[in-house]
Amino acid sequence: MALLRCSKAWRKISFSLPKQPTVSNFVRSKSAVPEMSTDNGTTPSMPPCDFKPGPLVGPSLDDVKQIRKEKLSAGLMTYYRTPVYIHQGHMQWLFDNEGKRYLDMFAGIVTVSVGHCHPKVNKALHDQVDRLWHTTNIYLHPNIHEYAEKLTSKLPGNLKVCLFTNSGSEANDLALHLARLYTGSYDVISFRNAYHGMSPYLMGLTALSTWHYQVPRGFGIHNTMNPDVYRGPWGGKNCRDSPVQTNRDCNCQAGQCEANDMYLDQFNDLLKHSLPKRIAGFFAESMQGVGGAVQYPRGFLKDAFEMVRSKGGVCIADEVQTGFGRLGSHYWGFESHDVMPDMVVIAKGMGNGFPLGAVITTPEIGHCLSQALHFNTYGGNPMACAVGSAVLDAIEEDGLQQNCEEVGTYFLLEFAKMREEFECIGDVRGKGLMVGVEMVTDKKSRTPLPAADMADIWEETKQMGVLFGKGGLHGNVFRIKPPMCITKDDATFALAVFREALKRYLAKK
Ligand SMILES: Cc1ncc(COP(=O)(O)O)c(C=O)c1O
Repeated sequence: MALLRCSKAWRKISFSLPKQPTVSNFVRSKSAVPEMSTDNGTTPSMPPCDFKPGPLVGPSLDDVKQIRKEKLSAGLMTYYRTPVYIHQGHMQWLFDNEGKRYLDMFAGIVTVSVGHCHPKVNKALHDQVDRLWHTTNIYLHPNIHEYAEKLTSKLPGNLKVCLFTNSGSEANDLALHLARLYTGSYDVISFRNAYHGMSPYLMGLTALSTWHYQVPRGFGIHNTMNPDVYRGPWGGKNCRDSPVQTNRDCNCQAGQCEANDMYLDQFNDLLKHSLPKRIAGFFAESMQGVGGAVQYPRGFLKDAFEMVRSKGGVCIADEVQTGFGRLGSHYWGFESHDVMPDMVVIAKGMGNGFPLGAVITTPEIGHCLSQALHFNTYGGNPMACAVGSAVLDAIEEDGLQQNCEEVGTYFLLEFAKMREEFECIGDVRGKGLMVGVEMVTDKKSRTPLPAADMADIWEETKQMGVLFGKGGLHGNVFRIKPPMCITKDDATFALAVFREALKRYLAKK
């Protein structure tokens, strides 16, 4: 099939658009979505939803925009040219100030795991709110103890000690602190393109320049080459743990990955040239989230963990986005790499939107905190633990890990077909409901699709009622990381919207 060219550069080369593919694989039911306009009948119809939102309670859109400008952080960004003013949610659906319904494909940045206002989680929180909000850990309370037991039962090996925080950044801060305390060493490694949080301590661990302020940061932290087989110098077409591989060439034989060997050489080079004999540790997301769903070659983390341990370092799996079954095949992303970390950092999906994070580690590492007093006022708060516990139950009861596997694989395979059709889809990757679609000007150059072009496509998807995420250093990766309760019909709708948005974008160019 002829490829549909996407970039402005390609426009300069004369060609005629091939016959547009038809959008046939979704059910049209106009009655289900009276709030959606149907532009020339090409806007896909949303799957129905029984839930009826209430009216907006709060200031008007204009007032909110003004308050935001004057009274909130200048660092805040809003998505879309006209921001979406959300005031209610129900499972995979969001509703704006005018009652328009959206399919949420980004889940509050990979945070709403079991669904917006999931009834079981809501009930657990309501029950706790009526009993007790807070005492802090100077007294005993049932919830933190019950939750620690339940949570650690989900982790393998000796990962049995929970240190609760309120966010992923706090948890990564603590993990970094513990790595240094435990090993008595200072130097730490993270990947370029990684995101681990925004505290001053972590700004060096996060290696995306767009998130860096010009302040001293990252002392003792070394960002190593990212083993990215799509964008990096060495490509691989058999080595991702994903139903979809890159379309880059490689000379690998079964079981041997040249790209992996080359990237491991780089890792080893960093150890040889830049680091002292003993190091504190190595942080890795099990799949990069903010960086754009980037996956490492199979086997990379296993070998890297060994190298780190040979230098006395500990290995930290940042599961803030990848945990709790989102990757489908495994409950934790690190399990899909066949590694055993010394610390696991969790947050986001853990609380389904309630501020909750943790480091889970071994008793030996956890014990280091007894060297001085350590305290976190809200860590393990009764409401947070009630929510966290109900989230674990909902994941089991609703079969969400399995759903991630099924719906995620469907998404990936369908996007892979679209990659064949559209020149501007450079890569499709991921696993479970953690999917990245990297947009380029053309497949050969892999030049990131310019921001304005990305915005044009993104606006179209929003107009049609789907809120996709965006990421990657150049902001050219669509991120599909919805609440894990999304259905196959929803996925079919989102895919149809994405295809239609590309067609409209191309037609306007
Ligand atoms: C992988 C990863 N680690 C850590 C963090 C920081 O978490 P928080 O924003 O809760 O501080 C994030 C946030 O996006 C993340 O994606």
